[in-house]
Amino acid sequence: MTDEIHKGLAGVVVDTTAISKVNPDTNSLLYRGYPVQELAATQPFEAVAHLLWHGELPTEEQLAEFEEFERSLRPLDERTLALLETIPVSAHPMDIVRTVVSQLGTFDDTLHRPGGWTDRELDLGRAVYLFAQLPTIVAAAQRRQRGLDPIPPRDDLDYSRNFLWMTFGEEPDPVVADAFNRSMVLYAEHSFNASTFTARVIASTTSDLYSAVVGAIGALKGPLHGGANEAVMHLFDEIGSAADVVPWLETALAEKRKIMGFGHRVYKHGDSRVPTMRAALETLVEHYDRPDVLDLYTALESEFVERKGIYPNLDYPSGPAYNLMGFDTTIFTPLFVAARITGWTAHILEQQASNALIRPLSQYDGPDERHVA
Ligand code: COA
Repeated sequence: MTDEIHKGLAGVVVDTTAISKVNPDTNSLLYRGYPVQELAATQPFEAVAHLLWHGELPTEEQLAEFEEFERSLRPLDERTLALLETIPVSAHPMDIVRTVVSQLGTFDDTLHRPGGWTDRELDLGRAVYLFAQLPTIVAAAQRRQRGLDPIPPRDDLDYSRNFLWMTFGEEPDPVVADAFNRSMVLYAEHSFNASTFTARVIASTTSDLYSAVVGAIGALKGPLHGGANEAVMHLFDEIGSAADVVPWLETALAEKRKIMGFGHRVYKHGDSRVPTMRAALETLVEHYDRPDVLDLYTALESEFVERKGIYPNLDYPSGPAYNLMGFDTTIFTPLFVAARITGWTAHILEQQASNALIRPLSQYDGPDERHVA
């Protein structure tokens, strides 16, 4: 008898979650009940992180307390700065981020306490620690790639402004800081995607939060998942301009290439996050006076949707948006890590609170039993 195989777990519901709801029929995404586009338009990323972890938006007092704690955790340890120096400059920034998060786990003495691996209060503190450290790590990786020294964090700037300050060494224009904040909110959470599921699988073994996050970073790196925002930029560079879209696309489709930034396992009529990110991209195009970027964006989108009926996902507008802000292409997926740390850690907490070891079955199709002669 053969069991039904659900390759890629497509269509399989493996658990419940109260963190976010993706509705592909209405193209909507809710974080703890709130539409993501409302959160992106009105909330600082810090408040959305609080919402994902605690289930409610913070009061003014809670937000102020959270910000103070988060800002105190931003500076890198001397040992992290030393580790960064040992990593080849040619290493992919995703590998740098994965390595440093692993190192941060070794600094955490509370892991040695009885039950310390899965203690909820300790894990909430660890989540804020990684949330605060990741921008400093990513900004340092970006600067190192350009032969520049890291810039220490500032505690008088909010999350997005400080991130951009540490990367570029100047305070961002409000238009840029706002677009960046929106991208962080949109990237924060998306139910049981591959990296979040990876984190939940690791958490389900009652391993620790750092290990689960390191695994999630590995899953996010792939171009079928988070790596797509980087891949989109390579496409834009390869195509050149709006006028080149049609011949380029004809060749790409004849070669049966996957067009990065399009398609989604869950959304089949459009990604709920795209209109908000596209609007943010439009503000950046105006700010930097780069209409050519939007022309190429629109030309590729309309040609591809018309020919294949497959819609853009969030990586499609975010790739060119991060490019306009001045980030190197290899930094785009690490930016996604900095945002998704909130969703991953919320899911790790949820998994631990109602745990069942995740261990599916497989159907064997190798050789029949045989014996060594
Ligand atoms: N470009 C070209 N064709 C695509 C496509 C894309 N971006 N996305 C899907 N398709 C086609 C597939 O080739 C397949 O065609 P076929 O039935 O003729 O073989 C069909 O659409 C179904 O695609 P499939 O890959 O099986 O769907 P999925 O649900 O497993 O995949 C993705 C979803 C995201 C992996 C897929 O759309 C993809 O690879 N997109 C590009 C990478 C990307 O942007 N990832 C970020 C996701 S947020």
